[in-house]
Amino acid sequence: MRRAVCPGSFDPVTNGHLDIVGRASRLFDEVIVGVLVNQSKSGLFTVEERIEMLREVTSSYGNVRVESFRGLLVDFCRAQRATVLIKGLRAVSDFDYELQMAQMNIGLAGVETLFMPTNPLYSFLSSSLVKDVAKWGGDVTPHVPDVVRDALKARLVPPPA
Ligand code: PNS
Repeated sequence: MRRAVCPGSFDPVTNGHLDIVGRASRLFDEVIVGVLVNQSKSGLFTVEERIEMLREVTSSYGNVRVESFRGLLVDFCRAQRATVLIKGLRAVSDFDYELQMAQMNIGLAGVETLFMPTNPLYSFLSSSLVKDVAKWGGDVTPHVPDVVRDALKARLVPPPA
């Protein structure tokens, strides 16, 4: 059984994340989406809300599970019996930090990282940018699944001009 982990904050999941998860699901027997529980950073959505949205939008892939984790990513990989991490690279600027983490993770526990180039349609996308656009009433329909767009609309009331 070849298992891969797609880790992240997913606050919230975007079409860029989904593209990576979907492509990974065609390459591995099982893909586990690992949602980081970050006690020092409160997100717009709770971890439970992020997981619920992720489960809904990945339900059509038969081999994708969504779980939360705290602590070291390599410990989560070990607990899930996954030996590979999949990371999307949007641009060269993503590479520096991702390389550092990949080298740390292989040193810590022998967990390999495979980089997947982001679909150019989504190379400018990030959860932060989507939240900022939604906050000011912009249309994020092309960038996130409908369930996420609706959740953003419900959560973010644009401030008065
Ligand atoms: O979506 P993000 O916030 O860019 O994801 C970052 C994530 C979750 C991949 C990274 O913060 C992480 O791996 N955190 C777990 C803690 C850990 O293992 N740190 C050492 C990394 S080398």
